Amino acid sequence: MLCDIAWGIAGVEMAVDRGDVVVIVDTLSFSSAVVTALMQGVTMIPCAEREHADAIAEREDAHISVPRANTDEQNPFSLSPLSYLDATPGTHVVLVSPNGGACAEKASRVEHAYVGCLLNAQAVAEHIATVAAENDKDITVIAAGENSAHHNLPGEARLLFAIEDYLACGAILGAIMADYTAEAAVCTNAFMNSQEHLDHLLKNCIRGRQLIEDGYEADVNHCLQVNHYSCIPQIRGNVIVAHDAPEEIEQPVDDTSIQETVEEVDDMDKWPAELIALRDEALECMRCDLAETRTHVVFGEGNPRTKLMLIGEGPGDQEDKTGRPFVGRAGKLLDEALATAGIQRDDVWIGNVLKCRACVIEDGRAKNRPPRADEVKSCRPWLESQIKIIQPSVILCIGAPAANLIIHRNFKMTKERGQWFIDSPFAPNVMAALHPAYILRQHGEAYESSLQSLVDDLKVAWERSTEEPPAKPQLTLF
Ligand code: URA
Repeated sequence: MLCDIAWGIAGVEMAVDRGDVVVIVDTLSFSSAVVTALMQGVTMIPCAEREHADAIAEREDAHISVPRANTDEQNPFSLSPLSYLDATPGTHVVLVSPNGGACAEKASRVEHAYVGCLLNAQAVAEHIATVAAENDKDITVIAAGENSAHHNLPGEARLLFAIEDYLACGAILGAIMADYTAEAAVCTNAFMNSQEHLDHLLKNCIRGRQLIEDGYEADVNHCLQVNHYSCIPQIRGNVIVAHDAPEEIEQPVDDTSIQETVEEVDDMDKWPAELIALRDEALECMRCDLAETRTHVVFGEGNPRTKLMLIGEGPGDQEDKTGRPFVGRAGKLLDEALATAGIQRDDVWIGNVLKCRACVIEDGRAKNRPPRADEVKSCRPWLESQIKIIQPSVILCIGAPAANLIIHRNFKMTKERGQWFIDSPFAPNVMAALHPAYILRQHGEAYESSLQSLVDDLKVAWERSTEEPPAKPQLTLF
């Protein structure tokens, strides 16, 4: 895992393109306001431009933040974190912020995006370190910067380097044990060497001086408290909520035509009776909340007499619609890799850690999300029973979530993919390969080489599955 620091919206865009875990840091306004508001049970909706705020507020039934100087009883919320201390839990606020808000809007395109500052540096650091390790991702912390009040340059040209953002980025990065880019290393050292002078630095940096001149010294005093809160704000679609807040999942759009698109699983007549019975039972599963939002249980399919089982993460949109594993974009790439490796899809068994789609509704659309630990736990017996019936000699875990379950927790795809593990309770030979969805996010040479690695791993796994098992020792009299 590599930790980096980047700057402004351009930095967010690069991090989003790489699929990093991203944290937006805007210390003296946006981030501290978000963290403080979430501590009071407020939901924040970031908005880069004031002219869009009315429409969002109407849609979300939310308040709109106003400039600090314009707050009154009707409009109590602003970029001042202190303006949230008396907020009623459950309130929604559209937080207008041209820097932090703009960065947060952009970061919402990535699966793991958070908001951090000095107030919650340790909490956010611990959480993103886990998320990055579990998902085999790098981390980019974004210093949002401050607008210069003194000239009228357009867009990012207006942005000033803000040391308070740099220092809070250092506070977050310094709490993570990982490799750092040169920029991240300098940033971390800057925080370590400045800890004793934070009060002086934040009150004398450009924005700090301005806030104090305008009468907001209490805001600065609030923002410079290190690790004051344990809140981890997560950007989920267009809102920012505490990361452990329940997902606001709505039923997927009721599309009655979907029923007709379900493809019957071929060759089920060749399945052993106990596998058919297991499938019938699994199709009725109500063990976790995903039962409420799924269209179909995706039990798994393939040759039940195979010695090679592929295990992915869980169904996506197309799988949910059809009831079949790996039939969407990632599935097409898996088919291509199997064909290149000289393996027929029908010759292996294809299953998943989760049998139902894990998704979150954002902007009215269902978006895949990683499986939660409780969902994996509830679903595990189905996979275990499948494995017990099929008895593969080789399991190839497709992606880190499967490897975390089948091989070991905190599996590191970059270091451990392609290695054989022979001590798994699930099968005598287990290995992990890159997930095709990950490969689809790569470009150019990285795409070619990661696809080749999947093909190579499939080939190796297939070869091992077709090897003769070692002969059982013969019982002889002498
Ligand atoms: N991704 C998976 O991990 N499994 C599927 O079935 C489809 C996409």
